[in-house]
Amino acid sequence: MDHAQLAALPKAELHLHIEGTLEPELAFTLARRNGITLPFASIEDLRSRYDYRNLQSFLDLYYALTDVLRTAEDFRDLTAAYLARAARDGVRHAEIFFDPQAHRRRGVPLAAVLEGLQAAVSASRDVSVYLIPCFLRDLGPDAAMETLGELLPFAGSFAAVGLDSAEVGYPPELFVDVFARARAEGLPAVAHAGEEGPPEYIRQALDLLRVRRVDHGVRCLDDPELVARLADEQIPLTVCPLSNVRLAVVPDLAAHPLPRMLDAGLAVTLNSDDPAYFGGYVGEVYARTAETFGLSAAEVHRLAETSVRASFLPPAARQRLLGA
Ligand code: HPA
Ligand code: ZN
Repeated sequence: MDHAQLAALPKAELHLHIEGTLEPELAFTLARRNGITLPFASIEDLRSRYDYRNLQSFLDLYYALTDVLRTAEDFRDLTAAYLARAARDGVRHAEIFFDPQAHRRRGVPLAAVLEGLQAAVSASRDVSVYLIPCFLRDLGPDAAMETLGELLPFAGSFAAVGLDSAEVGYPPELFVDVFARARAEGLPAVAHAGEEGPPEYIRQALDLLRVRRVDHGVRCLDDPELVARLADEQIPLTVCPLSNVRLAVVPDLAAHPLPRMLDAGLAVTLNSDDPAYFGGYVGEVYARTAETFGLSAAEVHRLAETSVRASFLPPAARQRLLGA
């Protein structure tokens, strides 16, 4: 399939951190607008740092650059830029993560973040959007519970809650009470698990946090019993192959286990994670994955269809997209 055919496929993006769509050009523009001096000499200097050893070395840069996001207008411009780009890639629905704690700790109130995100969402004609606030697991369960308390007055604005940031050493079991409270308030769960962390973290996300999807989940392959369960229950996995390459989860794209995951009957979706940092928006993810693995048109259709089915859209809206 060529780029135009891939872009014509209606798809949902289910694993996208809005802060991870901050392109270097926009970062410098916002820094100027907010009177901030970035610790990078130029856009080229900044780009030269986009070479990560692992998840943590990426997160260090990601959180540093996030500092340019200060006002509702900044969040609006960031989100509008992503949605325009996503629309060109055939994204018809996006479930967008954001990190309330990463902003609050810099003195940016949740209300400003939400005002900006929602302004862009309301103006979006081609892409429907659900928002998913994520807890930063390395800040621990008490901070997550406090953040949940701040989120709940806006609960109607969210499709779910999520869990992200540094994985190893912060197992899902730490957050069982936080996710139980979210569930009691009507918020379903998703969680990053099995990106760098072991299969046990995926089991905990399923059994203790009761997640409806697993973000990444690629390390399930270390545990055949878990693979069988994920396939049997058709738990969606939001796989991000370009992210896995850039964060050294796999040595290169050809070594990515996507074909094995498809062969195992897993409910795989393709996503971009942090496209400004990992070298490609979701259209590029589909194109490079299809090319690298020689996926058939039927296989690519299936991936796009799974993304729509794995969304939190109500069944009638999913059906509309699939019939489109
Ligand atoms: N993993 C964990 N946390 C994140 C990621 C990721 O890939 N991207 C942004 N926050
Ligand atoms: Zn992610």
